[in-house]
Amino acid sequence: MLPDYIQPVFRPPSEARSLILQVTNGCSWNQCSFCDMYTDAQKKFRPKPVTELEREIKQVAASGISFQRIFLADGDAMCLSYRRLHAIMTLINRYLPDTRRVSSYCLPRNLLNKTIAQLGELKKMGLSLMYVGCETGDDLLLEKIRKGETFASSLCALNAIKEAGMKSSVMILNGLGGTRYSEQHALNSALLMNRAQPDYLATLVVSFYRGIDRFQQDFGGDFVALKPPQLFAEMKCLLQHLELDKTIFRSDHASNYLVLKGVLGRDKERLVKQVQDAIHSQSSANLREEWQRGL
Ligand SMILES: C[S@@+](CC[C@H](N)C(=O)[O-])C[C@H]1O[C@@H](n2cnc3c(N)ncnc32)[C@H](O)[C@@H]1O
Ligand code: SF4
Repeated sequence: MLPDYIQPVFRPPSEARSLILQVTNGCSWNQCSFCDMYTDAQKKFRPKPVTELEREIKQVAASGISFQRIFLADGDAMCLSYRRLHAIMTLINRYLPDTRRVSSYCLPRNLLNKTIAQLGELKKMGLSLMYVGCETGDDLLLEKIRKGETFASSLCALNAIKEAGMKSSVMILNGLGGTRYSEQHALNSALLMNRAQPDYLATLVVSFYRGIDRFQQDFGGDFVALKPPQLFAEMKCLLQHLELDKTIFRSDHASNYLVLKGVLGRDKERLVKQVQDAIHSQSSANLREEWQRGL
């Protein structure tokens, strides 16, 4: 039997076949102005007691279903203390020994309250991939979206992940700066990625399915959303300025109009050309229709 979840539950596309272990409900920060993922009343933040998690993990083990990967939900499981994460990893190792990889969403500041030695210990226990929502490398935008992070704190966290031997998967939001800040968003995001050299990089298109009012208010009222050709132009600028040695790049999340996949730097030219082609001719670019998009 699989655990009961407090819905909705979000996970990265690459965790589609993983066991989702809801070690907290909601997000401890829950203030980013673009993010409505954990704002429903039932998603009020609460860590799940370890005794409850032990019961769920034992249930999964008894079901006989074997998972190679586990994703620790919800929004920022790394906000849990080192002690609690250690206890959760001990249970996973004890009852689900087939597990090859455990991963989690992660706000930069939730890493920086743990030492490299502690992160290294969690890595040894199997917690090996951090999905970090950097969203942008631009400090002005980071302030406007209430992320509570900066270029420097994001870079520091990505370096800590590397130092601990873990892998990082970064999310950048295409269109986050609107028309006014599009270029500085692309340039500073490229700079952050070039300094950090993450293992994976994903871009998502910022989308407001529940209305734009909250976002617009914090932004200062002058956010003008990018239309698809402008989103592609921003993507082109980002790709052109990325100087990555070996980062797996994916722009295949359901929010994207244009699906892009490759390894950067190897595939940089091909990806730039694909985006350029989409700018020139949307009709032949095999774009997702509006109804096919989601979060
Ligand atoms: C469930 S959140 C968890 C991320 C984690 N709490 C962090 O901040 O690093 C995963 C990602 O979804 C994306 N996301 C959230 N709201 C979005 C929106 N309105 N449009 C597009 N992407 C969004 C952001 O990139 C965010 O980092
Ligand atoms: S983006 Fe991450 S930190 Fe920000 S509110 Fe959403 S889940 Fe929480």
